[in-house]
Amino acid sequence: MERTFIMVKPDGVQRGLVGEIITRIEKKGFKIAGLKMLKIDEDLARKHYAEHVEKPFFPELLEFITSGPVVAMVVEGDGAISAMRAMMGKTNPKEALPGTIRGDFGICMSQNVIHGSDSPEAAAREIGLFFKDAEILDYERALDRWIF
Ligand code: RTP
Ligand code: MG
Repeated sequence: MERTFIMVKPDGVQRGLVGEIITRIEKKGFKIAGLKMLKIDEDLARKHYAEHVEKPFFPELLEFITSGPVVAMVVEGDGAISAMRAMMGKTNPKEALPGTIRGDFGICMSQNVIHGSDSPEAAAREIGLFFKDAEILDYERALDRWIF
């Protein structure tokens, strides 16, 4: 089963969208294998967004992502990485289609509600940054036979 790292960003938490986002993930059929709320500090932000540290928008991204609590998740399921990216919609909410999380709830690029890993390598790296092995649970759901 594929695992991806999903995070409700500070704007999503402040706007009360955590339940809505978790509902969409559950209704899709994906399994939540890890879940926590935390406030990202500068060190973690620089590691998580390492590929963007030198980019002009990084100061704004750093200020935003450390501005309040986030909800971090390990989401598991067949094709979870690309399916979650599709459910999130395009990075710029103005271009994200209705029906996607960013299309339905976001307006501006710098506050786009949700993060999701963009590749298997990114997923493994990001899960390792936010979760200890013991915080990721391996469990069966009775309904999995109706989903997979
Ligand atoms: P994320 O990593 O947050 O899930 O978003 P993403 O993959 O869709 O987009 P990415 O290219 O990784 O960019 C990370 C975040 O940086 C902000 N951004 N601003 N002004 C700009 O040109 C620009 N480009 C990216 C966005 O908030 C994006 O989510
Ligand atoms: Mg990204």
